[in-house]
Amino acid sequence: MKTMLLFVLVALLSVAGNAESDEAASSATAQQQAADELKQAVDESLTSADKKAPERPGDFSMVMNGAKLFAKNCAQCHGPRAQGFVNWRRRDASGNFPPPPLDGSAHTWHHPRRQLVNTIKNGGRVMPPFESRLTETEISNIIDYLISLWPDEIYAVWAERNAKFEKRSR
Ligand code: HEC
Repeated sequence: MKTMLLFVLVALLSVAGNAESDEAASSATAQQQAADELKQAVDESLTSADKKAPERPGDFSMVMNGAKLFAKNCAQCHGPRAQGFVNWRRRDASGNFPPPPLDGSAHTWHHPRRQLVNTIKNGGRVMPPFESRLTETEISNIIDYLISLWPDEIYAVWAERNAKFEKRSR
């Protein structure tokens, strides 16, 4: 991305430079035009996420603590980067689902925070319950860590739905 911007900058400056040597009077206009074009190119190359990355929950130490707890308690099933199993949608021979990705690529982000807390506390068919092994804060830190892995657009949708859910259940 940076290389591309640099390239655009150099290209535009050389356009401006040529214009200058042609006619001194029009050089100011040409430079202004080049500057405008550069600004537009930069604007267009930034995605909306670059412009306004939504702020994630949890500060640095909370997220780091969540990462550590995840590595210790969850990674053996969900994978070291929470990437889960590729075939997480397909039941295995005993009718169980493999551990799903929690990194935003599966449907973890369809669940509001409270529901994620409950899943972690209660476990599932295969997943063990963590209610007696992790504190509320620890579970919250793990969720903050997982959320930190989600792409901006996924996080933005989740944050909006989660806020609505919280409002309804108050
Ligand atoms: C023994 C393997 C195992 C461990 C350990 C484990 N999980 Fe799971 N997890 C699963 C499986 C399998 C599922 C799918 C539901 C089921 O069958 O239990 C699941 C489901 C989930 C879901 C629901 C995902 C969704 O998209 O709805 C969440 C959230 C989750 N796990 C988080 C965690 C966290 C956080 C930890 C660590 C504290 C953890 N899991 C530890 C196996 C595991």
